[in-house]
Amino acid sequence: MNTAAPKKRVAILISGRGSNMMSLVQAACAPDYPAEIVAVLSNRPKATGLIWARDQGIETISLDHQGFESRVCFDQALHEALEAVGAEIVACAGFMRLMTPKLVKRWHNRMVNIHPSLLPAFKGLNTHDRVLAAGVRITGCTVHVVRPEMDTGPILGQAAVPVFNSDTTEVLAERVLTAEHRLYPQILSLFAAERYDINQEVAHFKEDCADGSILLSPKV
Ligand code: GRF
Repeated sequence: MNTAAPKKRVAILISGRGSNMMSLVQAACAPDYPAEIVAVLSNRPKATGLIWARDQGIETISLDHQGFESRVCFDQALHEALEAVGAEIVACAGFMRLMTPKLVKRWHNRMVNIHPSLLPAFKGLNTHDRVLAAGVRITGCTVHVVRPEMDTGPILGQAAVPVFNSDTTEVLAERVLTAEHRLYPQILSLFAAERYDINQEVAHFKEDCADGSILLSPKV
């Protein structure tokens, strides 16, 4: 008899190439992964990640935000699309669109995101340029639960990445992206398996969580 919990239904939101989406899809192919990717949605019809996802046999939905008269209307359509595919968790992966507080609240503690810095440092865009300009020696990436304010919310996991004197924006971005591809699938797995308690806006691993010491640093 199979007593494993049913896999959580995950929808992924992208806006571009979707390399993080690919890492989640590939991880979710493992029989014991606690989530299945049921759809990939994009606000940009030309997002190259959509083609890849479609080729994997995953349902893809393109909602061109330019076709909506307001952010509220777009978010309503996005919410309905997520409900229609039966999503239980929404994973943002390079989704370059601010959401209305209403949409975020509808998915309270059910929507996660990856950001290419060690939050709460370097929120927002052009992260790696600002990291280099600030001269920090360690950067990284963060997976967090989504809250209405951009790049905030309980932190689920982080990976540290060194910054070298010779780094350009592109070289650093590539090093951080390698860490993102390792971190996001592991954290989504723990989140889908309900291994976190979220109290007072801080996420803690549950006591019996064997992966509770998770700390990722990619080899460079
Ligand atoms: C990643 O660096 C992610 O952290 C950020 O946007 C980028 C998306 O890259 N939010 P990709 O589309 O997953 O390749």
